[in-house]
Amino acid sequence: MDPPSTKVAPSHFLDGKTILVSGAGIAGLAFAVALAHQFAGETSTTRPRVIIFERDSYEERVGREGYTLSLRTEYNAGGGQILDRLGLYEQVRSVSVNAKEGAVEGGSFNVWHPDFRPFVRLAAQPIGPKRLVGMRIRRNALQKVLAHAAIDSGAEIHWQSAVASAKRIKDGRVEVSLDNGSIISGDILIAADGSRSKLGSLLRPNHDLDYAGVYCWSGIAKYASPEAIPKPVNRDWGVVVGAKDGLGGFFSPVDETSSLWCFSRRTSEPKEPLRYPIPQDRLDRLMEETTDAAASLAPLVKNLVSATNPDTVMQFNAMDRKPFSHSISTDGPSIYIGDANHAVSPFAGAGANLALMDAWDLAAAMKNCSSLGEAVKAYDALAVPRASKILKISHWTIDIVHATGIKLLLYTLILRVLGLFA
Ligand SMILES: Cc1cc2nc3c(=O)[nH]c(=O)nc-3n(C[C@H](O)[C@H](O)[C@H](O)COP(=O)(O)OP(=O)(O)OC[C@H]3O[C@@H](n4cnc5c(N)ncnc54)[C@H](O)[C@@H]3O)c2cc1C
Ligand SMILES: *[C@@H]1O[C@H](CO)[C@@H](O)[C@H](O)[C@H]1NC(C)=O
Ligand SMILES: *[C@@H]1O[C@H](CO)[C@@H](O)[C@H](O)[C@H]1NC(C)=O
Repeated sequence: MDPPSTKVAPSHFLDGKTILVSGAGIAGLAFAVALAHQFAGETSTTRPRVIIFERDSYEERVGREGYTLSLRTEYNAGGGQILDRLGLYEQVRSVSVNAKEGAVEGGSFNVWHPDFRPFVRLAAQPIGPKRLVGMRIRRNALQKVLAHAAIDSGAEIHWQSAVASAKRIKDGRVEVSLDNGSIISGDILIAADGSRSKLGSLLRPNHDLDYAGVYCWSGIAKYASPEAIPKPVNRDWGVVVGAKDGLGGFFSPVDETSSLWCFSRRTSEPKEPLRYPIPQDRLDRLMEETTDAAASLAPLVKNLVSATNPDTVMQFNAMDRKPFSHSISTDGPSIYIGDANHAVSPFAGAGANLALMDAWDLAAAMKNCSSLGEAVKAYDALAVPRASKILKISHWTIDIVHATGIKLLLYTLILRVLGLFA
């Protein structure tokens, strides 16, 4: 009789390899979790090793403050579906804005008239057998769940360890230098270092961001109790269309006792970015402008503006960058995911969703394919068209939100028709 055969699993190109990741943001962390998920069946000696370097400290990344973002479920696979595949949907939902008491039924996305009558109100429809719904969540709360999941999945995270540069070395490998002078080599480098990607600026020609034509300024209004937040921005979020002089407005709940306001305007040149701590006279001027802007909208906006915590006020430019595909043979084993590849402005309302989808698709393609070149090709075929589409939609959104004159009339008409069917 034959001895029992010890089945030898076919080897995979990633067996025993080391993957370096620059950036423990949404894309970098989700990639680590997704890869571990794909290679869950393998022994610890063959499973690829993931080492993440993050510029900021753990505290800075997951601390309480931070803007809120929407995780969506309405595309084929939005961020919500990816979290579900990663086994993190419920955990993330439990720390989302929607989980707060009284809002369990879920708020919805709106397009409002300046007086906050809705043109369109899109109530989140549960999707699929698991009835997944979109949610709004603080970026930091999402990052905390992802960071712990990444560590649990076996990834190493080095906080306060910025990647200063990277280069190709022999045998098709790659080497990164950290800002403390340490040098680490690996087989693959994932650039997940955000829209102002250090690696992109060093290693790619023309990696700059493009100005999307509008600047924004925002603040968070803080109230003593949940009941004090003006309706509907205690649970609904959305944009205002048709405000005076092409003023854009976005409003959203943040947590039990706070809501965000964000105004925007078209300018031909970017504005000076401002964030805490803003010099007092500059802050005063900005708040005066804000009060004027608020006067053209429903009174609830004035209420939000006067309840603003001054430390949360900031001014920023809407910037973006077209997605690009990779060539391992010419550029080496470096792959750009999330904002490091295709930055989208907040008007896309989708950057974090793209980052999650990129992470999942790259990990799946790596598992599925027989070489890195093939995997990256499969990945690019999904990621590039998806991000191009979102970028285009974000430019339409900017156009609609800041429309004036005839264009505004036209958009208003379309929105009214949509409102009839939503
Ligand atoms: C105001 C605002 C509102 C938004 N609203 C939404 C929304 O509603 N829906 C949505 O889906 N998206 C939204 N976004 C976009 C979303 O936040 C981003 O698209 C998402 O965070 C991208 O994830 P990322 O991992 O690619 O980049 P990031 O989250 O930016 O992470 C990059 C990480 O890399 C680190 N890093 C940078 N340089 C280095 C270095 N040299 N070495 C090591 N680490 C480095 C950074 O510290 C950071 O942790 C919004 C963004 C803003 C600014
Ligand atoms: C530099 O940082 C890395 C990652 O945090 C760490 O492992 C290494 O020991 C540090 N090197 C020096 C010289 O401090
Ligand atoms: C896996 O590979 C097969 C064959 O190459 C391809 O048809 C399929 O789309 C791939 N799936 C993913 C997730 O890359």
